[in-house]
Amino acid sequence: MELASSSDVSEIEVVSPIPVDELRPWLASLATTFLDDSEGDNFDRMHEMWRREWELVRSWGVRANGRWVATLATEQRTISIPGPDGATVDLVADALTAVTVSATHRRRGLLTQMLSESLSSAKDRGEPFSILIAAEWPIYGRYGYAPASLASNYTLFTRARERLLTTGDVGSVRQVDPAELGEIAPAIHEACRPLRAGGVDRPGDWWARRLGLKGYQPINHGKTPNYILHESDGRPDGLLRWAGTKEFELNGELGAVSVADLITATPAAYRNLWAYLAGLDVVGEVTLQRRPVDEPIRWLLADGRALRQTYTGDDLWLRLLDVPAALSARGYCGSGRVVLDVVDDDTGGYASGRFLLEAGDDGAECRPTTESADLRVSHRTLASVYLGGFTLRELTIGGSVEELTPGALLRTESLFATTLPPWNATGF
Ligand SMILES: CC(C)(COP(=O)(O)OP(=O)(O)OC[C@H]1O[C@@H](n2cnc3c(N)ncnc32)[C@H](O)[C@@H]1OP(=O)(O)O)[C@@H](O)C(=O)NCCC(=O)NCCS
Repeated sequence: MELASSSDVSEIEVVSPIPVDELRPWLASLATTFLDDSEGDNFDRMHEMWRREWELVRSWGVRANGRWVATLATEQRTISIPGPDGATVDLVADALTAVTVSATHRRRGLLTQMLSESLSSAKDRGEPFSILIAAEWPIYGRYGYAPASLASNYTLFTRARERLLTTGDVGSVRQVDPAELGEIAPAIHEACRPLRAGGVDRPGDWWARRLGLKGYQPINHGKTPNYILHESDGRPDGLLRWAGTKEFELNGELGAVSVADLITATPAAYRNLWAYLAGLDVVGEVTLQRRPVDEPIRWLLADGRALRQTYTGDDLWLRLLDVPAALSARGYCGSGRVVLDVVDDDTGGYASGRFLLEAGDDGAECRPTTESADLRVSHRTLASVYLGGFTLRELTIGGSVEELTPGALLRTESLFATTLPPWNATGF
């Protein structure tokens, strides 16, 4: 006779929502799978952060024999999408986070079960798409998510600091304490976010949690962060968070710093905060993560190679849930009409259908149609071009775009064209 395994599938119970008194063990399961602390000070702080906003969170979990073995949560977040004339507009989307399945229960379909439910609820709530940041590329395609924006990491080599930047001065830059930054950081971020598509908001207590305000204890894995503010004519328009990552030596070896946030709402703030970074004495390298792929500072450097792009990869993934709503909300380049046959064979098939997109001077409208299609396109490809991060033409390589009317590919490509690559500065 075989003994039943303690992790037998029959013992499994999918729970949603997660009651707040179960939050701590639910989070401990999440922390373990994410290789984080599942007890101690940092865990207590994480628990406190989640607990305070728990009512706002849509949550799932799986219990096996009374123990949490899987977690998933979604939030409603605002994201900038391409608008008319190179501007952006804001749209509310479903944002997926906290996805874990314990090693004891992986590959039994638990993620599939939780995510199918969460996508179906997002669809019912009328959210036009869902976004996420993927731990690994192969996980989310089957659920209809596709890469929609890229992000880059950079290192600025500052050895030649006296002649590194061709412009910028630090006269309008000052160091502030967390309380002062907390007052103005939300407004600076909200002024910066619409400058590109793909910007995800930082709602509620986001800044208070990072800065250790309103009774939150910040989680700092490294050295104490420094907070720098930029003002133009006395008005705050840029901020910087940085911390040291390597000490300098008396033998001449220079130190290093890492930038957690560089948020600028004006070109002056951008130039001057980079000038501040380039001028840090005893520092040889400044590293920045999750930055735009086209980081414009390159054009202000006396030697453009002082900035090295050390990594570029997928950042936001997007799953279309309502094609007419998503495409009607977006702005287009010029005017035109195209009929899209959207093929969606992934979980839920939410994006399937034939849609007429008409864009003109008064805005755009997308609606179901029975007209014959100009372009057949997989919904994942449509998701990838939605924010302007990729082009239809580059995605034809995968065979997911089929031109049914001659010239339709170029016409559609032109309509979807954007000015700057999308960029999201906010992890979630
Ligand atoms: C990724 C993770 C949530 C998957 O959970 P799971 O319950 O094992 O997933 P499922 O059993 O529902 O998998 C469904 C399918 O996706 C595949 N899959 C799941 N995770 C995968 C991965 N990391 N790489 C490749 N394929 C994966 C499975 O093989 C399965 O394919 P099949 O239907 O052809 O057999 C889990 O492995 C995990 O927690 N990993 C560590 C944390 C993490 O990466 N979280 C995601 C944060 S964005």
